[in-house]
Amino acid sequence: MPRSDGPIGVFDSGLGGLSVLRHVRALLPNEDLVYVADSAYLPYGGKPPELVRERVDEIGGRLIEQGAKALVVACNTATAFGIDALRARFDLPVIGMEPGVKPAASCTQTGTIGVLATAGTLSSTRFQNLMHKHAGAARVIAQPCPGWVELVESGDWHSPAAREKLRHSLMPVLHANADVLVLGCTHFPFLRDALTGIAGLGVTIIDTGEAVARELKRRLGQAGLLAAGPAVGTIRCFTTGDIDAVRPLVAKLWGAPLTVASFR
Ligand code: DGL
Repeated sequence: MPRSDGPIGVFDSGLGGLSVLRHVRALLPNEDLVYVADSAYLPYGGKPPELVRERVDEIGGRLIEQGAKALVVACNTATAFGIDALRARFDLPVIGMEPGVKPAASCTQTGTIGVLATAGTLSSTRFQNLMHKHAGAARVIAQPCPGWVELVESGDWHSPAAREKLRHSLMPVLHANADVLVLGCTHFPFLRDALTGIAGLGVTIIDTGEAVARELKRRLGQAGLLAAGPAVGTIRCFTTGDIDAVRPLVAKLWGAPLTVASFR
């Protein structure tokens, strides 16, 4: 049985999920948070669905064994391939990510929206279902963005070479007249300013991180699992990769140093 004084487990293939963690932290400041970056298996985007499912099962399962009262699968690719199995296995709140096609379709003026995500997410049945359900009359340009996850994980997305990589995948979407861009990968919110620099301020950018934090709060409340008391929660960060390589990047993306340890 999950306990309300347990931590919330949040995980991603790497550090992209910190873009979701920051919304969780802002909305639920007194919750203890455990973040796991599966850096040894990054990126998930081009991996076989079966492998991604195994990783989700492994990390989610271990977080729950270690006392997590809820899980946030802070990765669109992992959600697409692994969340159903996780939900079937555990009876506690398991919140996932999905590209914000619905809000995008309701705010486009040109009738065309761009979904920026990994090739894995875009090829998934879950994404096809999402489009059928929520795209309505909008034309959807589903754009894989090779190399963008690696740019974030390298900590450098401002160099001329990085900007060229962003332009390479973004320009076809802009040329197709999309006026709304959906960030369908949790690494991409870190690229937001760079993307606005290329697309211009007339283009709306949609990130579902905040909505996911709200859904998490609602589900914890419904299950009677919200932390009691006003104490500020702890944040612990783990990686399956090299902690010395991950630590400085965590500090850069989070905006402050966090302790980083090996996930075992
Ligand atoms: N951050 C992940 C997502 O939201 C994927 C990155 C990767 O390819 O590992 O899809």
